[in-house]
Amino acid sequence: MILSEGAEAKVYKSKIYGVNIAAKVREPKVYRERSLDTMLRESRTKKEARAMHSAKTLGVDVPAIVALGRFSIYMECVKGILLKDAKKAGPEVFERIGSILATLHRGNIAHGDFTTANVMLSGSKIYIIDFGLAEISGGVEEKAIDLLLMKRSATAAQYRAFERGYLGNGGRREVLARLAAIMLRGRYQTRTLLTG
Ligand SMILES: Nc1ncnc2c1ncn2[C@@H]1O[C@H](COP(=O)(O)OP(=O)(O)O)[C@@H](O)[C@H]1O
Ligand SMILES: [Mg+2]
Repeated sequence: MILSEGAEAKVYKSKIYGVNIAAKVREPKVYRERSLDTMLRESRTKKEARAMHSAKTLGVDVPAIVALGRFSIYMECVKGILLKDAKKAGPEVFERIGSILATLHRGNIAHGDFTTANVMLSGSKIYIIDFGLAEISGGVEEKAIDLLLMKRSATAAQYRAFERGYLGNGGRREVLARLAAIMLRGRYQTRTLLTG
């Protein structure tokens, strides 16, 4: 059964020895030159698996990897819902997510796509998924972009709680300052576009 079909990968729900797993598969893109396509799919799969492993080492809940193929990651299927569909997620959830992101950042992982579509709630656990764009040893800019993506996908109150959790767990003010700078840059660009 197909769970999701994204630009980069398809996610299938399947069973191995009776256990539910999610298989994230990077299928060929016909518009890319063949050897480049193979190289990209292979390196992104490897990169994602590595980042998931590093996150797990830091104590962050990520789906356990069951098996790794050249272009696929077979992982534990998380039973739960995406944060973006969790209408009742209160500030305490967002505070915990901020704290989780601070753990990743302190461990030098920038997630790269840190939106409410890539966080899953499962019982009392919070899983972070989709490390396809993660950077190990990401700089301040990459970290600030993680905050920016969460800010854009959450409400103002949810984001405030998130930021509180981030700072409360050793997230750096320097990253918040960079976020402010990026947002100003954004506005500046819009204005220059408008005024020519
Ligand atoms: N381990 C998992 N357990 C359950 N569902 C998953 C798992 N991994 C991915 N999914 C589902 O598949 C969707 C797409 O996976 P994701 O890794 O975010 O890929 P994409 O890069 O296409 O966004 C997720 O939004 C989620 O619904
Ligand atoms: Mg995703």
